[in-house]
Amino acid sequence: MKLVPLHRLKQDEKLAKAIYKEDGRPLLQIGAVLTERLVERLEEKGVTFVYVQEPGTEDIEAEDAIDPRIRAASIKTIRENFENAGKQLALGKSVNIDDMSVSFSSIVDQVMQEILHKKEAVTLLSDVVAHDTYVFHHSLNVAVYALSLGKSLGLNQEELHKLGMGAVLHDVGKMSLPLEVLKKPGKLTDEEFQIIKHHTTAGFDILRNSHTISLLTAHCAYQHHERLDGSGYPRSLNASDIHAFAKIIAIADVFDAVTSHRSYRQAMLPHEGLEVLYSGAGTQFDQKMVETFSRTVAVYPPGLEVELNGGRTGIITQKNTGIPQRPLVRITHEEGVPVTAYEVDLSEDLSSMIVSCETALDQRTGLRGG
Ligand SMILES: [Fe+2]
Repeated sequence: MKLVPLHRLKQDEKLAKAIYKEDGRPLLQIGAVLTERLVERLEEKGVTFVYVQEPGTEDIEAEDAIDPRIRAASIKTIRENFENAGKQLALGKSVNIDDMSVSFSSIVDQVMQEILHKKEAVTLLSDVVAHDTYVFHHSLNVAVYALSLGKSLGLNQEELHKLGMGAVLHDVGKMSLPLEVLKKPGKLTDEEFQIIKHHTTAGFDILRNSHTISLLTAHCAYQHHERLDGSGYPRSLNASDIHAFAKIIAIADVFDAVTSHRSYRQAMLPHEGLEVLYSGAGTQFDQKMVETFSRTVAVYPPGLEVELNGGRTGIITQKNTGIPQRPLVRITHEEGVPVTAYEVDLSEDLSSMIVSCETALDQRTGLRGG
């Protein structure tokens, strides 16, 4: 399969990987013909890249960082518990988070096992078009990215568990927000943004009252929008006052937000998402953590078309363990002329390098906090 930005699709290409609706059912099945009308519909839903079938790429697989069954079960648990918390809060009752902590702890354990056993960089390319359920998918994705980064930073299992809990629950405070603000598809007004900001404090209040959840987990919810230079919220903390776990979650949070399909913003490909992090490295995000993160995620996912030096173009076939920046590339063209396909392993051929690759964005779009 080949990974193609929507704006580069040719007429009537066939889908190679299903696209799912937020309820987990397929929106489009494998083999669906991407007619002009369908592409328009996908565009409206914020989809910016899809996997299509292409001769010579049948063997290229895009595997997910976590088992789809674990994903589905985790999303269900997160959704039920978050929605339940929302109902309690709407009735003016306090949320008994202790009931939730067991289920969240088991989600974190499962994701941790998957991450700890993985040697390869994490791929989590969005194949879900989620609107109402975005926050649940996002919570799980942030846990996956945060745990991967935490593992690369050398955290032990106990620390990873606390970090994972903080990551999966970082946005629980969103359940206290008015639905019309939370689900608003377009740009927020200043007033609405003030309301959104409150989810950090609300999350802290929900979590700190628990007897079973560590206070550190509560602080992850409280601090995940703080930035090193004091430009974050809710307390404009400076670098030294922000806990390392909140710094990790901030990176995971922003990366997942910009690489996810949303109706109001185009989803970026991983290398574009990393650019966003690098542009804030040292000012908003911890420099060393961003660098470590770039070695943790699959910057160049299998199926992506790239250009190498020497006028060669090809498709990423495989990631290399430990060096996601130097994957295997199947060269198909030289100076625009088709050649008999051959592979270059960038981890061995150090004179070859990626000079450019497909971008999902044909225009830059602004970031929205929240
Ligand atoms: Fe948040």
